[in-house]
Amino acid sequence: MSEPRLRQIEMTVNGTHFHRAIDVRKSLLEVLREDLGLTGTKHGCGVGECGACSVLVDDVLVDACIFLAVWANGKNIRTIEGETKQGRLSPVQQAYVTEGAVQCGFCTPGFIMATTAFVEQHKGQPVTDDTIRKAHAGNLCRCTGYQHILDAVKKSMK
Ligand code: FES
Ligand code: FES
Repeated sequence: MSEPRLRQIEMTVNGTHFHRAIDVRKSLLEVLREDLGLTGTKHGCGVGECGACSVLVDDVLVDACIFLAVWANGKNIRTIEGETKQGRLSPVQQAYVTEGAVQCGFCTPGFIMATTAFVEQHKGQPVTDDTIRKAHAGNLCRCTGYQHILDAVKKSMK
């Protein structure tokens, strides 16, 4: 990379306020992993196809690899690290464990964030398998065959 062009940004990540000078060319994924040390969010394809880098920006699901960090200025970011509170898994995380929806686990942080957004938006509403599948279509898993993930999402809705 050539000489960095820095810009000050502030954002809240998992409840902690950060104020940093960051290279304007960096993605939110790079800033989370490299500048803030939050490596729970994974780098898969890097081009917005696999969902491994999914995080919530003001409670909206985004692919952090194609979301510039400067766009996160002033926003509230949630990553997988923030979902476990005082050593307790979130209901979504627990459902993934209970339903056996985790194998290698590389896709799991992204899936957990996608399911978290889905559950928060649909809690108390009837949802079909098709709705769940469409809401998670941006997240790819090479291991589980998706049925267990579908089951985990349904368990999270209860
Ligand atoms: Fe971001 Fe694949 S790493 S979508
Ligand atoms: Fe391995 Fe999903 S559990 S890619």
